[in-house]
Amino acid sequence: MIPMADVTVRAPAKINVHLEVLGLRPDGYHELAMVMQSIDLSDTLVLRATADATIRLCSDCQELPSDGTNLIVKAADLLRSRVGLPELGAEITLHKRIPIGAGLAGGSSDGAAALVGLDALWGLGLGSERLHGLAAELGSDMPFCLEGGTQLCFGRGERLEPVPAQRVAERAVLLLKHPSASVSTPWAYGRCRELRGDFYLDEEADFEQRRQALRHGPLVAALAQEGPLPPLRNDLQAVVAPEVESVRQGLDLLRRQPGALAVAMSGSGPSLYALYPDLAAAEVVRAALKEPLDELGFASWCCRCGGYGASLVTDGSPP
Ligand code: C5P
Repeated sequence: MIPMADVTVRAPAKINVHLEVLGLRPDGYHELAMVMQSIDLSDTLVLRATADATIRLCSDCQELPSDGTNLIVKAADLLRSRVGLPELGAEITLHKRIPIGAGLAGGSSDGAAALVGLDALWGLGLGSERLHGLAAELGSDMPFCLEGGTQLCFGRGERLEPVPAQRVAERAVLLLKHPSASVSTPWAYGRCRELRGDFYLDEEADFEQRRQALRHGPLVAALAQEGPLPPLRNDLQAVVAPEVESVRQGLDLLRRQPGALAVAMSGSGPSLYALYPDLAAAEVVRAALKEPLDELGFASWCCRCGGYGASLVTDGSPP
């Protein structure tokens, strides 16, 4: 038998270009209206089939658990149980580059990449619709992480609609994350509910009105053109910024630089970004900010916006 080659999968991070909390759902999650964008800061998963019916994860990131609480292991367990093949095994190596607890969906993207990679490695041929269903069971951001690009995301975040004729993928971001800051997503949504719960919408008709306003509003129109974007909305930014000093400092710093199309926090934070027309513009600002970024202790990256989600780099065919 020819041994199956390793499968390598790229797992890109995302940023939120818009995050609007509409209300609370009967299942306890928040009803959201978002625009999410892939960026080319990516983790890499290398997967190898094993004959011992176990899922083994090892990673170059000491802070990450490699047991059943990791979304990669959860994705593998769910996949093999749903196809009724518990005897399938895999050894998965994670090369982590996306900062963790940052609001960049690193964990969700790793889980989405595990679904794509194991589907190929085990020769399951599930197709995108079934993978999307599994992804939505595992996490609200995970369907976006499978699909990638620029998408409107509704419901818990799992209902996707591509943004038509967008040009964001030509653009680039300067991304900041303070190593000592970390925000728990459940905490951020819980705090949002405490502070803004009285203003939440209740009715599906009201939710749909907000979705329509986003679909046909100035942000989506501006995404299709060159030039600046309208001020970006992230309802969790208003909740997190008062609590996390580095978020306020980073936003201030980015806002003071010329040439940004927009500045915002991503997801539940604490990562922050400024959007530029291209990578060269982002790199110029990063170089100019080297001193204050070092002084404040920020890690920084310049990344292109991307048009794809979790993707196979090699497909496991025999070499
Ligand atoms: O779906 P996921 O496990 O990624 O969500 C993590 C947490 O974030 C949830 O347990 C919930 O507290 C919060 N959340 C929410 N509404 C959403 C998505 C996430 O309240 N639409």
